[in-house]
Amino acid sequence: MTKLLAIAQPTLAYFGEKDAQQLAIIRRLVADLNLPVEIRSCPTLREASGLALSSRNQYLSVIERAEAVSLWRSLQSAQQAFRQGEREAIPLLAGVKAELATAPGIQVQYVELVHPQTLAPLARVEAAGLLAIAAFVGGTRLIDNVILVNRQPIIAIDGPAGSGKSTVTRRLAQAMGLLHLDTGAMYRAVTWLVMKQGIPLNDEASIAELMGEMKVELLPTDSWEEPTRVRINNEEVTDAIRTPEVTASVSPLSAQLAVRQALVAEQRRLGQRGGLVAEGRDIGTNVFPNAELKIYLTASVEERAKRRWQEFQNRGLTDISLEKLQREIQQRDYQDSTRPLAPLRQAADAIEINTDRLTIEEVMEEIVQRYQEKLALSGDNPAPALDRPGKPIPKKGLSSPP
Ligand code: DC
Repeated sequence: MTKLLAIAQPTLAYFGEKDAQQLAIIRRLVADLNLPVEIRSCPTLREASGLALSSRNQYLSVIERAEAVSLWRSLQSAQQAFRQGEREAIPLLAGVKAELATAPGIQVQYVELVHPQTLAPLARVEAAGLLAIAAFVGGTRLIDNVILVNRQPIIAIDGPAGSGKSTVTRRLAQAMGLLHLDTGAMYRAVTWLVMKQGIPLNDEASIAELMGEMKVELLPTDSWEEPTRVRINNEEVTDAIRTPEVTASVSPLSAQLAVRQALVAEQRRLGQRGGLVAEGRDIGTNVFPNAELKIYLTASVEERAKRRWQEFQNRGLTDISLEKLQREIQQRDYQDSTRPLAPLRQAADAIEINTDRLTIEEVMEEIVQRYQEKLALSGDNPAPALDRPGKPIPKKGLSSPP
């Protein structure tokens, strides 16, 4: 694999999640050898029956194909038991084996519960576990797996600048009692630091070095309007990262591999326990591909420029023209969606909401509705109600002042 990566020198390499052990080993290899490539995982695609797609399925007879569905069914029964609170390996594995035993044509090679990154066997799932099967169905060896994650749900909200993400995410987090993860603020903080240190934006080597010693913090506050303060290397930068100068430089900086690797790792660490609403450009596609709910917020360029203009007016920045903002937004859209690393795009399973003619309340209601539907389907607890006592949600449009 190292030889292949050295010859092809890709910036991005895709591997299927179906071979989860291969994926874990390659991720580890790339991290240990510091290889300049981003490893992306592709979710397992399934037939309507649940059977994982594979070129090997062509060797299955009609009867074997029906039996092969037991692999997925057994993993699902373990997933169900896990959701109901079972954490011990012995009963989880026994449940899978019992389900597989109902298909006489299946010869189990292994059923294992291991740590998803280190692949060490687990006696109990603490944060997450990889439950993997390899079995012969007739003469054909098939594999399948499921990741059991012990965490609260995650809502991923992606979309271009000015689509209403920040306002909606901030208020959703407060109304639903979830943490707010503003990943754009992290990219902005790094941009501010690079500019403050006088490092040219195209000096990737110095910026990569800076990433090694950088500490960015998102600190929750009690404030309804400004729930998060941002600090980088112990400096308070909440307001400083919203200037037009930082905004103009953040796109090229966020396209750099070292910056993305450092910030995505931190975002995943913050999301380990779930219970958060995360906003950005690549949350549903890259940072949390397993998020319970993915939303893609859009709005026309004209509407988005108007919202930004209004924000600047409210902050006393009155010498910025609407036309200039519109041009800048178009340029940022272009840069964010055409960069090779984690470009802005809608995840295949994301729900698109166009916010042009919607109020904040309408967008929030739509998202909470979808969230409740998703959790009801997965059998988890329903979402908390939106209107928590003592926390009225102000009736404002998306473009209204913060
Ligand atoms: O959401 P925002 O305008 O604060 O984001 C600032 C920039 O950060 C945006 O132009 C692209 C970048 N960004 C990113 O590349 N990936 C994210 N997940 C979030 C933001």
